[in-house]
Amino acid sequence: MTGSATFDAPVSHWQDIPGWFQWRDGQSEAVAHFPDGSRFVEVGVYLGKSLCSLAEVVADSGRDITVLGVDTCRGSGPEGVRDIDAHGPAVEHGAGTMAGLLHRNVIACGFADSVQILISDSLRAAALFPDASLTWVHLDARHDYDSVIADIEAWRPKVAAGGWLSGDDYDEYAWPGVVAAVRDAVPDAARWSTNQWRVTL
Ligand SMILES: C[S@@+](CC[C@H](N)C(=O)[O-])C[C@H]1O[C@@H](n2cnc3c(N)ncnc32)[C@H](O)[C@@H]1O
Repeated sequence: MTGSATFDAPVSHWQDIPGWFQWRDGQSEAVAHFPDGSRFVEVGVYLGKSLCSLAEVVADSGRDITVLGVDTCRGSGPEGVRDIDAHGPAVEHGAGTMAGLLHRNVIACGFADSVQILISDSLRAAALFPDASLTWVHLDARHDYDSVIADIEAWRPKVAAGGWLSGDDYDEYAWPGVVAAVRDAVPDAARWSTNQWRVTL
């Protein structure tokens, strides 16, 4: 998944986009569960694989649901039990930002007008939204304990009653910080889909 050739390869569908996304059934459940007018936010979108999949699920449903992605577009840096900088090559490809590749992928998948991208730090982005104004927030930014705690605390108040707060990489071996942060900050959360966590607020 590294190298300019991989990033420059043509894209026309979310499955063409580099990434680790593997929980589409959860997105389908969300789109089936929430009504028209809902507002979904994914925090941490990398090159748009999961974001474009969600946009496709929404489009195929014919539902009126807002889809917004938040990312610094500068990567997470080295992290995880193996301290790997997984986004580094994509950031380097764009001379310090993944924004070009991300936007290109959203356009190429046909979602230029239906998906919104906010290039921002997670916490600063959360501060832009009124409390209880979002239907579903999915967290997949930095995966260390303190970052996940901060993301949960920033975004939880933004989700309306009955909405969902969820996150990726609920895996105690690969991402112990995620599991510990969810345990401490949202003890009502449960394992969901493939390596996801979720709580209904
Ligand atoms: C694991 S990737 C997201 C993968 C994506 N959800 C997918 O499945 O295709 C994590 C992303 O979080 C972003 N990120 C890291 N820290 C962030 C922060 N504080 N605010 C916003 N985005 C951040 C990184 O730039 C990176 O693109």
